Amino acid sequence: MSRLQTNRNGTGAPPLTNEERFLVIKRQLHQQLITGMDLSAIGSMNEEELRLEVRRAAEELIRHGSDLLNLNERERLVSEVIDETFGLGPLEPLMRDPTITDILVNGPKVVYVERRGRLEPADIAFHDDRHLVQIIQRIVGRIGRRVDETSPMVDARLPDGSRVNAIIPPLALDGALLSIRRFGTRPLLVADLIAHKAITREMIEFLSACVQARINVIISGGTGSGKTTLLNALSAFVPSEERVATIEDAAELRLQQRHVVRMETRPPNIEGEGEVTTRDLVKNALRMRPDRIIVGECRGAEALDMLQAMNTGHDGSMTTIHANDTRDALSRVEMMVGMAGFDLPIWIIRRQIASAINLVIQVARLPGGVRKVIKISEITGMEGDVISMQDVFGFKQTGVDDFRVAQGYFFATGLRPQCLERLEVSGVGLPISMFERRVLNV
Ligand SMILES: Nc1ncnc2c1ncn2[C@@H]1O[C@H](COP(=O)(O)OP(=O)(O)OP(=O)(O)O)[C@@H](O)[C@H]1O
Ligand SMILES: [Mg+2]
Repeated sequence: MSRLQTNRNGTGAPPLTNEERFLVIKRQLHQQLITGMDLSAIGSMNEEELRLEVRRAAEELIRHGSDLLNLNERERLVSEVIDETFGLGPLEPLMRDPTITDILVNGPKVVYVERRGRLEPADIAFHDDRHLVQIIQRIVGRIGRRVDETSPMVDARLPDGSRVNAIIPPLALDGALLSIRRFGTRPLLVADLIAHKAITREMIEFLSACVQARINVIISGGTGSGKTTLLNALSAFVPSEERVATIEDAAELRLQQRHVVRMETRPPNIEGEGEVTTRDLVKNALRMRPDRIIVGECRGAEALDMLQAMNTGHDGSMTTIHANDTRDALSRVEMMVGMAGFDLPIWIIRRQIASAINLVIQVARLPGGVRKVIKISEITGMEGDVISMQDVFGFKQTGVDDFRVAQGYFFATGLRPQCLERLEVSGVGLPISMFERRVLNV
């Protein structure tokens, strides 16, 4: 690549290559567009107008800077900047707004966003359904996926970790539907959860000890209730010398440990081949000498493998599950184990569950959008054919405030956890007084 005569800064640093020069100009142009252009106007421009506008700004910049770019390079500059800056069209300003956690597009003219747990209409629209589908194509196209009549549904993860689901007509009846679950720049950590009153210090102290003592934990909750967030936050208590393997459908977890190996499942391709399931990855992970296995979400037959892993020396494993109560979570596990296709008698499945899982944490999205840990239950064994559980901590909703946000209090049930002894042995013992029946301060 030819070297240019100009120096980087006149200090004798090596001159920029053409490519470096190109990148510098591109970055400047990108920045200028973001700060200088009227983004709401851009939302109503079509691709052609947008190109003209960007080209005009690019010409301006290049004229001021230098005439170093040839015609081809200018063309490439304009295309790349348009893609990078406006790839998401009217969604761009929403994607740049850090207070928005979810973007929900219900056809070209109806868009909602979630801010601080509340849904509100967003003041943007697409020209028509074609425009919306075009943007969807662009979003999923960047990561090598596509959506069209033969595969009208797509579930994908953006490079920044956000999750995208799109479903287009004819399956979607009133225009294409797009749901983007933003991935905040920083995940909520334990301190944030306490600050948001999602959990109390005592509860965290207990969970921290449980994680350190390699108690097997399941986090249960409804859609968007904060399961993954809590799992991620709790992972902070995994001692840093341990080797952790994570398995997810769409990698969201951001563990703070050094020794983490991450794996992601793969959907089948358009010919229906090449699928790699959570189950495959759990089996594979077992051969990787992990100390713990973390499965982002258990939704099928992998539950069996997870139980086996938990029962065979991978204590301290964690996963999340979609259920509305801690007891309901166990029925779900039971059902999912059934999906593995072995015709196991129910009492064997239950015995496996009771010996594998120690703790179930229930999270919920309450009125007003607040997320809370509403129950921490311990599995204490079997009574006949039934798995016995006891609740250690809970949250009681008493009403809603003037803004219809759930109000209530956290409490300790007064039941002393059976695992206290195990915590003690692991060097993370807790005082019994922590579990006395009372209302907890937040
Ligand atoms: N305690 C909290 N306080 C405020 N916001 C929270 C809290 N917990 C989670 N959130 C936010 O709620 C949204 C959903 O959280 P998360 O992805 O953890 O839920 P989930 O139950 O794992 O969802 P899914 O069912 O899609 O797997 C995220 O935007 C997250 O930042
Ligand atoms: Mg999740």
